[in-house]
Amino acid sequence: MKILKFLVFAVFFAFGAARAENLIVYFSDSGNTERVANTIYELVGGDVARIVSVMPYPKSQTDKTYVAKREQESGARPEYEDLGVNVADYDLIFLGYPIWWGGMPMVVYTFLENNNFDGKVIVPFATYGTSGLGNSVEEIKRVAPGATVTEGFGMPGKETTKDYTKVLAEWLSDVVVTEWLNKTSGNAE
Ligand SMILES: Cc1cc2nc3c(=O)[nH]c(=O)nc-3n(C[C@H](O)[C@H](O)[C@H](O)COP(=O)(O)O)c2cc1C
Repeated sequence: MKILKFLVFAVFFAFGAARAENLIVYFSDSGNTERVANTIYELVGGDVARIVSVMPYPKSQTDKTYVAKREQESGARPEYEDLGVNVADYDLIFLGYPIWWGGMPMVVYTFLENNNFDGKVIVPFATYGTSGLGNSVEEIKRVAPGATVTEGFGMPGKETTKDYTKVLAEWLSDVVVTEWLNKTSGNAE
């Protein structure tokens, strides 16, 4: 674990000129995505902020599912509480969410539309039951067209209580660092 942490950290910070502050920002209803956010933090550090909907979702799974579906169908933009950070201060943003009805919860759309991501790198990560990332990465690209959006990291929520650190660390090294170095050296497509 310590070696993995060092490896990712070393790749990230080997190029002093390329270094920038990173933010790990996530929405998590039942804690799965939050666990992944915490693991990313353990691996790469940075600041962490949680998106908390002003209107809490119902505790009952049936009611919550209904509310989430209604929000999606109506294109709702639920408000969220103060994040405690200014997104403009960060160049590299890890954005986490659970998959709800095949995509991002609507409060994540609110977050994306409330901030300017031009010139920033967004690294999506998500947890889900069985469906994978759905249309979420494409949607982030659509809503934040000025950002470089990397491939997303996804895993089933129930796997987040196991040790997935190695897989996540390898993915971070392969996808994120490559994308980041491309961008900061001016080679981004
Ligand atoms: C309202 C709602 C809708 C969901 N829709 C999907 C879905 O479309 N596909 C899927 O695989 N899982 C779906 N799930 C399961 C969650 O994505 C999964 O449990 C996730 O890990 C929860 O993350 P969290 O603990 O960070 O909230 C849904 C869960 C809820 C509550």
